[in-house]
This record gives sequence, C-alpha cells and structure tokens, in this order.
Amino acid sequence: MGNIQEEIAKRRTFAIISHPDAGKTTLTEKFLLFGGAIQTAGAVKNNKITKTATSDFMEIERQRGISVATSVMAFNYRGRLINLLDTPGHRDFAEDTYRTLTAVDSVILVIDCVKGVEAQTERLMEVCRMRKTPVIIFINKMDLEGQDPFDLLDELEVKLKINVRPLSWPISGGQSFKGVYNLYDSELRLFNPDKTKISKEVVSIEDIQDASLDDLVTEQHANQLREDVELINGVYETWDSQPYLDGDLAPVFFGSAVNNFGIQEMLDTFIDIAPDPRSRPADVRDVHPEEEAFSGFIFKIHANIDPRHRDRIAFLRVCSGQFQRNTFYYHTRLTKKLKFSNPATFLAQDKSIVEEAWPGDVVGLYDTGNFKIGDTLTEGEIIQFRGIPSFSPEIFKELVNLDPMKSKQLEKGIKQLTDEGVAQLFIRELGNRKIVGTVGELQFEVIQYRLEHEYGAKCEFQPKRYFKACWILSDNESKLDEFKRIKGIDMVLDKDKNDVFLAPSKFLLDMEIANFPELEFHFTSEFKTAQV
Ligand code: G4P
Repeated sequence: MGNIQEEIAKRRTFAIISHPDAGKTTLTEKFLLFGGAIQTAGAVKNNKITKTATSDFMEIERQRGISVATSVMAFNYRGRLINLLDTPGHRDFAEDTYRTLTAVDSVILVIDCVKGVEAQTERLMEVCRMRKTPVIIFINKMDLEGQDPFDLLDELEVKLKINVRPLSWPISGGQSFKGVYNLYDSELRLFNPDKTKISKEVVSIEDIQDASLDDLVTEQHANQLREDVELINGVYETWDSQPYLDGDLAPVFFGSAVNNFGIQEMLDTFIDIAPDPRSRPADVRDVHPEEEAFSGFIFKIHANIDPRHRDRIAFLRVCSGQFQRNTFYYHTRLTKKLKFSNPATFLAQDKSIVEEAWPGDVVGLYDTGNFKIGDTLTEGEIIQFRGIPSFSPEIFKELVNLDPMKSKQLEKGIKQLTDEGVAQLFIRELGNRKIVGTVGELQFEVIQYRLEHEYGAKCEFQPKRYFKACWILSDNESKLDEFKRIKGIDMVLDKDKNDVFLAPSKFLLDMEIANFPELEFHFTSEFKTAQV
C-alpha cells in the first residue's frame, strides 16, 4: 500500500502524437528502451497499423489484438512510473486518438523537420489546446536536410497557435548535422549517427564564445550557433515551466529518433517538468487526484478479437483515490454497482492482473456490455466526468439492413459498436433511420465486417453528402423547435439524444447560422471549441 501523495507524485501519464510517419513509433520504442521495458528495437514497430491498411480484415483484426497489449505501456524511469498511452497513427482512427488525449496529463508532439506541421498535427493540437494539455514538441529527423529551425518555430506558432520556446538548438542539419546545444543546461551533444547505441558524447560548454567550440563543430558552425543563441535569447523569454503547465507554451527539442539522438535529454526534461496526474472536471465539480474516494472514467473500449467471446476491454483512467480489485464500484450512468475480478495493467507487452491502481494509471476492465465511452465509476458519488467530446465526423453513410430477419441483431450490433467508439451513430427519429459518421472509410469496412461476423447481421452503406454534424443549442425553445421543424429531414439525435443538424453544405450551414442567430452551432458535442 502506497501513500497517495507519493503515488501521484511518481506518475507521468502521457501520449506521443504525430502525423503518420513523423516518427512516433520510433520515439515510443526508444523511450521503452530507456525505461528497460523492451530490450530490442523493432518490438513496437511491428504493432502499428500500417499506413497501407486497406480492407485486409485479418490484418486489421490481428493488429487490433496486438494493440490491446500496447494500448498502455507502463515503464519506470528515474524513479518515476510512466504511463505511455498509445494512439493509433492511422488517420482513420483519429477519433480514437482524440479520446485517448482525454486520459493523459501531457503530450509529446513529434514533427518531421522536412515536412514541418502537417494536417493531422494541426487537428491533434486543436484538441490539446481545447483541453489546455501541456505539450512538448520534438522536431525529428535532424539527420535529413530539413527546413531552417527558425522557420520551423515560426510555422509551429502560426499553425499550431501556441507559443514555443526552444530548449535545445541544432547545429546545422542533414549531412552536416553536428549535434544539439542544450539551452537548458548549456551542454553540447555531438551527433554520432548510430541506430543501436545511445550517443554519449556530451560536452559541457560554460561559454559558447570559447574557442574550444570551434574545434568541436568547426568555426563556421560554432559562429552560426553563437549567432542563433543570441537571437534566441533576444526573442524568447527565459524558460519558465508554468506557462508550459498552463498549456500556453511548448518547449521544443531537436533530435533524431532513429539515431537515438536528443531523446534522453528530452525524456529527462519531461520527467522534470511534465505534470503529475491532474484534477479533472466532472459535471458538478472538479475531482482532485489526492481525494480519498476512488473515481475514474472509461476513455476507450476494445472489442475482443475472438468473435466467439463478445467481452470487451474497457480502459479506465483512474482520476482519484485508489482502485482495488474485487471491490464494488458505482457505475453512475447505469446506477448500479460492479466489481472487477480480473482488472489488467499493461507493463510493456505483458498484461497482468492488478490488485490496486492509483491516479494516472490505466486499468483494463473486462466488460460484457456495461460500458460506453465516457462512463464514470465512483465509490457512490453521482458524478459524470466531462471532457470526452464527440467531434463532427467527416464521412456520413446511412446504414441499410440487408436482412430483415436480423434487424434485432443489427440494432444491437450497431449500438454496441458505436458505444465502443468505432463510429458515431445519429438517429433520425422520423423512420428510425441510422446515419453512421466516421473520420475515415476504414471504419465502414470494419463495421460491416464485424456486424456480420460478431452479430450475424448483414448491411450496406449508402453515402450521404453531408458537410458537418453540428450540435445545436439554444435558450429559445420556440426558435429551436422552428428550426427542427424546418430542417426535419436533416435533424438527428446523437447517442446521448442531443439535437444534431447534419448540414448538407458549408453554404447552407452559413445561411442557417445567419437566419437563426438565436441558435448556437457547434462542431463538437461539448461546445468548447470555437463556433463555426
Ligand atoms: P510514425 O509512427 O509516426 O508513423 O513513424 P515511424 O516511427 O514509423 O517512422 C516513420 C519512418 O521515419 C520510418 O522509416 C523511420 O525509420 C523513419 N525515422 C524515424 N526517425 C527518424 C530520424 O530521426 N531520421 C530519419 N532519417 N528517419 C527517421 P520507414 O522507412 O517507414 O521504416 P523503417 O523500415 O526504416 O523502419
């Protein structure tokens, strides 16, 4: 039994996010190597959903199975217990990533120095900004000819809408990459490309004006570094971790993940500055980790890969108190008590039964259909954690039942799959029509396949040309009713029975916004992002 304060102070729960191919998997792997959780490179690599994933279901299923084990990777480093939550790199699973971000306390964002800020990075950062999640940025692939570092910093500020502060600085790049100068502790790390060893060539530089620097990196590069550092010190404020913790400032590191370069110093800084488990907002109050009573919420549900067993694993983030095995907890949505005899934790690749868990930890609970994303467990208090919004999907299709004899199975299947968060389900009350919304095409194939194999229901999808789903809100009941009446055919209900308007086009949406100033139109279900 640990002391709750100590257990909290020990933990760092975070996720690595990136546009596919920037180096998330490689970085994850290096972290695990540092943490001693894996011994050889390549162990994580094999698990990722490949970029080319198309309709090879066996492959998807296999990868889904493996990714249960790698959903959370816990490891120890310098006396801390680190919970690294995996996020799928594949664009079609972006919604999964957004939800995982609700369960972490901070994020490391990987950027490819050649490509700069890419589309998916912007979306992911939007979610972090919305939640004020502290972000550290790692600019990767410095061994390649990339963009000018100052240009990259500008691009980060403009596209990601966050202030940045370099904590390390590259000396040249690409073929002539010499290393990085750590602005935090005034140390120079010399680059020595090696995929297997950790670069240990660290030189302390008390004064970068010193001529010894010229010998280490050539006079030309030394002078460039001096100029750059002067500029940085002139432009950026002195480093202070508070704005970082408030989500207003992102420290930036440069390095090369595949060459093990610049990673350990980032990890060390991460350990020093990243927040321990933070308070979380619930509907009636904020919940603090050091509270004695246990509470937590479900942020992810994973179906069993064996279709004969329909049980699933629900991932619980512990928010306060201590979670214990074989203890009854209160499911606040279902208003019933549940206990868990085989809660699992995930240490690297191994799943094992856990007796207790603390704030910041993630526990896998075997579930036979009690949970949906966002559900809250407590010791009896009636609260519901907030901050797990649904975002507007990008692709909409109507679900068409191909076997009238199996409509019950279809109803049940689509409900369970959408509870798991595979896709969003919108129901048009008129005629009980079901519109399924996703971020990518892959989900439709997954749904069709799983409905057939797990529920014995056959379906097809008819594309619907919708631009966005807008959650509609208004204090003016009669205006809301009028809007719903006029828009009848495009009005649906989401899983929580909120009113949603499926806007056929941007043009029509803008028109409605102008016609109905009494109404609020939102692209997420929790109304925290900017309005349309
Ligand atoms: P992801 O998870 O973000 O999708 O990226 P991943 O780590 O898989 O990295 C994408 C590619 O970038 C990989 O190459 C990886 O080796 C490479 N990479 C990662 N870090 C660096 C770096 O610092 N420098 C350079 N030059 N490349 C880097 P791949 O060809 O797709 O795979 P592989 O066959 O090399 O493993």
